[in-house]
Amino acid sequence: FNVPVPKNEPVLSYAPGSKEREEVKKMLETLRSAEVELPMVIGGKDVFTDRKVRMFPPHELNHTLGYYNQGDSSHVEMAIDAALEAREKWMNLSWQHRASVFLKAADLLVGPYRAKINAASMLGQSKNIYQAEIDAACELADFYRFGVKAMSDIYKMQPASTPGIWNYNEFRPLEGFVFALTPFNFTSIAGNLPAAPALMGNVVVWKPSKTAVYSAGVIMEVLREAGLPDGVINLIYAPGPTVADVVLTHPDFAGIHFTGSTSVFQGIWKTIGNNIEKYKSYPRIVGETGGKDFIFADNTVKIPELTTAIVRGAFEYQGQKCSAASRVYVPKSIWPKLKQQLGEMLSTVKMGPPEDFTNFINAVIDEASFNKLKGYIDRAREDKDAGVIFGGKCDKSAGYFIEPTVILAKKPNYVTMEEELFGPVVTIYVYADEKLDETLNILDTTSVYGLTGAVFSQDRYNIEKITKRLTHAAGNFYINDKPTGAVVNQQPFGGARGSGTNDKAGTLFNFLRWVSIRSVKENF
Ligand code: ALA
Repeated sequence: FNVPVPKNEPVLSYAPGSKEREEVKKMLETLRSAEVELPMVIGGKDVFTDRKVRMFPPHELNHTLGYYNQGDSSHVEMAIDAALEAREKWMNLSWQHRASVFLKAADLLVGPYRAKINAASMLGQSKNIYQAEIDAACELADFYRFGVKAMSDIYKMQPASTPGIWNYNEFRPLEGFVFALTPFNFTSIAGNLPAAPALMGNVVVWKPSKTAVYSAGVIMEVLREAGLPDGVINLIYAPGPTVADVVLTHPDFAGIHFTGSTSVFQGIWKTIGNNIEKYKSYPRIVGETGGKDFIFADNTVKIPELTTAIVRGAFEYQGQKCSAASRVYVPKSIWPKLKQQLGEMLSTVKMGPPEDFTNFINAVIDEASFNKLKGYIDRAREDKDAGVIFGGKCDKSAGYFIEPTVILAKKPNYVTMEEELFGPVVTIYVYADEKLDETLNILDTTSVYGLTGAVFSQDRYNIEKITKRLTHAAGNFYINDKPTGAVVNQQPFGGARGSGTNDKAGTLFNFLRWVSIRSVKENF
């Protein structure tokens, strides 16, 4: 029994006059005026509460998109109970039927729901159409389709048998429920984190980021339409600490699938440690966290390519990709030319709401992010060890807009070379050409992260040397390309060090974390 061999979903162009452009424009209008009320979904039922939280676009603070129903700890308990109740039937359903649900969901996402999932991500998370399309529609469909492939490959992994003895692996789901805690920055990650354990027969309690509730609601709608049985994935909107308090102290807590900040993940890990005696099994802890992703160039680079990589790598989706380039090392000999070309390219970049498709930059996600970024920019303006050389304007009168900003650091360990900012701010350090090796050592030890990184060079010896020297600096390493835009099944994504458990989203490596193998031996 072979599953359909997946292909990555082709990304549509949204060129002026195209059918897909017209459809998404219409959907944007519909969603803008819909004033939806999003329920939680527990045990297959819509759950409403008396706490309605207003949703608004980060780029248009005065516009109300609708409301979501916020729950409390009693709803978290309900969600766990519903998951545990659904467990027996779901785990015993043959895997082909579990697969069917997610294959259908993938088709819905890139078919009848394409405009809706994209428009919800554009309005709710301030993504332009091109960023929404690669993420919400295509990457999520890829995650589901390649997830099914990974799952079927796992079930084929069987041990040797000998005459008179039959051995086999039984891939049992974890004993309990899995907690999916998902981020705002990728709709695809939000959709994948509950799905991967569910595909392997687990039941899930899913809490999305409070800043990406709209698209989470659409994902749930798609999964229900695809026939996901009640209680398999339970969607709850409640404050993180409220959810964590209940989930992480529950005896049936069996694992967490997480993407978010390093500090939250570390806090969760500690809580799990403190409660370890309460659980039936050691929980699986799978998480992708922060990054301080780099571009390192030597003096043989093609400057136009490097310029494009910096602008796209640092500023697409306002630098809010965990993979976004946020520190760049360039040799002194190329800096004047690079600076000029960067300035020219940045002067063509437009900022504004995503409803205008010519805007490359939209708003950052929320006020806390805006304030944090503004703080770093203001500090760099005044600091003797830094300066703002491009952009820097911050304006939250209509939405949380931060201009694409380039900081020049005079020290390689300047604060913005070291700390994760998560926004459209990149810091450049210019090194003396003869200090390439020393600079690599500094790069490798400046930050605690190890997510993505890129080397730009036309010198094969340098490419090899740098790649080897930076073995642990990035889980996704790019040669002559920007460090963002990993494609499912092409560049398995994830990092180590402070960036996560590196279980490579969407791959067999990740899916293996959601099963507990029983080895069976029978004598004939
Ligand atoms: N897949 C996303 C990227 O690589 C995280 O940018």
